[in-house]
Amino acid sequence: ISVFVPRDSAALAVGAERVAKAVATQAHNRNIDVRLVRNSSRGMFWLEPLLEISTPEGRVAFGPVEPEDVVDIFEQGLAEATQHPLYLGLTAEIPYLKKQERLTFARMGITDPLSLTDYEDHEGFTGLQHALAMSGQDIIQQVLDSGLRGRGGAAFPAGIKWRTVAATPAKQRYIVCNADEGDSGTFSDRMTMEGDPFMLIEGMTIAGIATDATVGYIYVRSEYPHAIAVLNEAIQIAEAAGYLGANILNSGKSFSLIVRKAAGSYVCGEETALLESLEGKRGIVRAKPPLPAIEGLFGLPTVVNNVITLASVPIILARGAAFYKNFGVGRSTGTLPFQLAGNIKFGGLVEKAFGLTLRELVFDFGGGSASGRPIKAIQSGGPLGTYIPESQWDLPLDYETFIAIGGTIGHGGMVVHDDTADMSKLARYAMEFCALESCGKCTPCRIGSTRGTEVIDKITSGKDREHQVVLLKDLCNTMTYGSLCAMGGMTPNPVLSALNHFPEDFGLTHAPTA
Ligand code: NAI
Ligand code: SF4
Repeated sequence: ISVFVPRDSAALAVGAERVAKAVATQAHNRNIDVRLVRNSSRGMFWLEPLLEISTPEGRVAFGPVEPEDVVDIFEQGLAEATQHPLYLGLTAEIPYLKKQERLTFARMGITDPLSLTDYEDHEGFTGLQHALAMSGQDIIQQVLDSGLRGRGGAAFPAGIKWRTVAATPAKQRYIVCNADEGDSGTFSDRMTMEGDPFMLIEGMTIAGIATDATVGYIYVRSEYPHAIAVLNEAIQIAEAAGYLGANILNSGKSFSLIVRKAAGSYVCGEETALLESLEGKRGIVRAKPPLPAIEGLFGLPTVVNNVITLASVPIILARGAAFYKNFGVGRSTGTLPFQLAGNIKFGGLVEKAFGLTLRELVFDFGGGSASGRPIKAIQSGGPLGTYIPESQWDLPLDYETFIAIGGTIGHGGMVVHDDTADMSKLARYAMEFCALESCGKCTPCRIGSTRGTEVIDKITSGKDREHQVVLLKDLCNTMTYGSLCAMGGMTPNPVLSALNHFPEDFGLTHAPTA
């Protein structure tokens, strides 16, 4: 009999290790032959630590489980413990999971993250095998035809980026994976690295073969020690099996991977600051152009893609561009692993095709607020994303619709606030965050963010309020259009959306006019 207890950070944080130990002890004491698998989390965090038991009908789940519950579950006969209060039935039938469209996260929680056999048995390395039989140009065409766009937030077509890199003459090209996942409420990159590392390795290898790049770097935020450890182990396993390194599967193609730990700066998630950091310098933004695709790492053509972008590539190559493109709406093709966080009852990961609404995400999946109070605003797309009021919760979640309302889907993180949230404090926080994280290279961001905090303080204190609002809007305008990168350029998003949609929180009777 197999028992599954996740080793994902989210599960470990709530005691999965103690649960796993309890399973091992119970199995030993009762002389039961149990295969304990440390899988990844399924992404239903309110149920962690989730314990699953294999049955002929499929896995059944219990959660959230404490070590004492493990004793009871063993006492009641493991899979027979159907009367246990934590019994959830077949895992795959839990509505939160059943309603999803998991392409990138298809294996998440099902396989053992470091079992190559598990990965191969679940379609792993099929995309790579197909890619090895194709020309670089044909691989890039598949990625272009799939419509895959950058999942870090900017939504730039991945195939065009790869084509630019491949077409730039150079003695060496690089693939850099941006795993400096810094947006509030996001964890899909971390889950991928910890829970299905071979998928990222496969995606990066395919990118390398497509663009004739033989070296790849994964730049992982320092707060992700488990991800770093799992990646390093997975790289060794993939190398030993011939999927990575020199002469991959006797194809004559080579690709090697190096994991680099970031140093805790938010702005190093910006691609040029990331490259500076990778080169061993201070993480300061470089002016673009030149684009990294032309002059990137060490001045050479570099693909910089987010974890989820690269992790989406294996299934595109395995099943074909048309399969992937069938999901989604308009120019937003495929799926996005949305992440529900903040004041939400059922926080976790929901992979769905583009086109569902925020209301569906937050209520049908998320179950509303954790506090039980009405939801006031949802911040979509990270700390510099827009606060979205209820009037916009029924719009389809696709890149173009959100751009049209001045919002962003970003990396898919949705942070929920209930009606006790003071939007002026959240607006102030955005400016303060920018002041703390600014790399200091350009004036609108470096100075504007500090002035912005002061102006918001004046507005909320009521002193010279109308005039300060005019100043704040003027300042935001300068930051939006005058900043060198998205850090300063996007900080006005949360500030102005809070001001325009919730003027009463700033002591105003109505939204300021343009
Ligand atoms: P951008 O729009 O300047 O560029 C997007 C990407 O396309 C870049 O990699 C750029 O080099 C590339 N590109 C543009 N034109 C190209 C061409 N002709 N050929 C090849 N490549 C080309 O956006 P940026 O500044 O890189 O990213 C901003 C986004 O980052 C924001 O929209 C935000 O949502 C997101 N973000 C994500 C965070 C996270 O933790 N995932 C944190 C903060 C921001
Ligand atoms: Fe640096 Fe801010 Fe300017 Fe970006 S906008 S380059 S983070 S100072």
